[in-house]
Amino acid sequence: MKVAAPEHWTLLEVLRYKLGLVGSKQGCDKGDCGACTVLADGEPVLACLTLAALCEGREITTIEGLMPAWRASEEGAADPVQEAFDRCGALQCGFCQPGMMLSARALLNANRKPSRAEIRQALSGNLCRCTGYTQIVQAVELCIAEAVGAEPASPAWAPGENPWREEAKD
Ligand code: FES
Ligand code: FES
Repeated sequence: MKVAAPEHWTLLEVLRYKLGLVGSKQGCDKGDCGACTVLADGEPVLACLTLAALCEGREITTIEGLMPAWRASEEGAADPVQEAFDRCGALQCGFCQPGMMLSARALLNANRKPSRAEIRQALSGNLCRCTGYTQIVQAVELCIAEAVGAEPASPAWAPGENPWREEAKD
């Protein structure tokens, strides 16, 4: 796809204001919140800090493209990340979700069975004001369990399983 835009425009501006792809959210617009996260050649990038001109020739996946990309390569109605976020109730207002799900998809593409610490690290650039993160981690762990045919890990809030609580004690 070709699109013309001023050379100083960011990828986020082109996606939202030239292409009408408003799934990528304009939160802080300065690299703090992760709401604008998209995949560039499979790697998560902050679209608000990425010049559109530097994306020429790169494959950009937004939340609008996640389901079609999954359907093109695997069976199923939606990407399992989207399904798991839905099943785990991992969203409230939904503002953070496009970036959160794309970061999760990038993680799972690179590492089929990340640990809870690795999940937290991969999602650490995506801020959520609503959910408290526990269902988000649980959703990613549900994806992992289903992909490898295992039982899901204990919920992040189970006694002795909550790494946030242990960090708070220190
Ligand atoms: S809108 Fe890009 S990091 Fe917040
Ligand atoms: S669900 Fe509202 S910011 Fe995450």
